[in-house]
Amino acid sequence: MENKKVIILGSSRSSGNTAKSIAAISEKYNIEVIDLNNYTFSYYDYESKNLDDDFLPLIISIIEKYDTLIFATPVYWYNMSGIMKVFFDRFSDLIRVEKETGRKLKGKNMSVISNSHSDSIDKTFYIPFQKSADYLGMNYIGGIHLNADKLKIEDKIILDFI
Ligand SMILES: Cc1cc2nc3c(=O)[nH]c(=O)nc-3n(C[C@H](O)[C@H](O)[C@H](O)COP(=O)(O)O)c2cc1C
Repeated sequence: MENKKVIILGSSRSSGNTAKSIAAISEKYNIEVIDLNNYTFSYYDYESKNLDDDFLPLIISIIEKYDTLIFATPVYWYNMSGIMKVFFDRFSDLIRVEKETGRKLKGKNMSVISNSHSDSIDKTFYIPFQKSADYLGMNYIGGIHLNADKLKIEDKIILDFI
């Protein structure tokens, strides 16, 4: 069965280092990129008053179309970017309200592409992704870190990853 992959870009800028770091990967492997900046979704709301924003239609279309979700984020303050974190927080809607949609995440693959100006990153960076995948019933299949200043070598690195 075909394993359809998507890169979900979460950066404060759509043409920054994270976007550049995934451009060659996306082209080489023909993987579609979804830029979270093109969608409007707000912080998690305990009262679910924001269920009509872009989050639900976006995650539903991702679930329908793809088997592997590759989250691409810069390192901001030792963590994933703010927009990526807000996107992850909204998964709570899938656990508390839109449960049927949430269940459809089960069995899908999750992966991460991070970047900063360093060659490597502490592996604890990936724990929130690993644990979230686990909680959602997804398979965490690994993360890679790219140095934004040495993006030319990314093609070689990515071979191990996909
Ligand atoms: C708000 C902010 C916080 C950052 N925090 C870190 C950090 O904790 N560690 C690090 O190595 N780099 C940090 N950086 C550098 C970014 O990881 C790096 O510049 C990255 O390539 C930016 O990608 P972007 O262009 O997609 O935003 C930070 C940059 C910003 C803007």
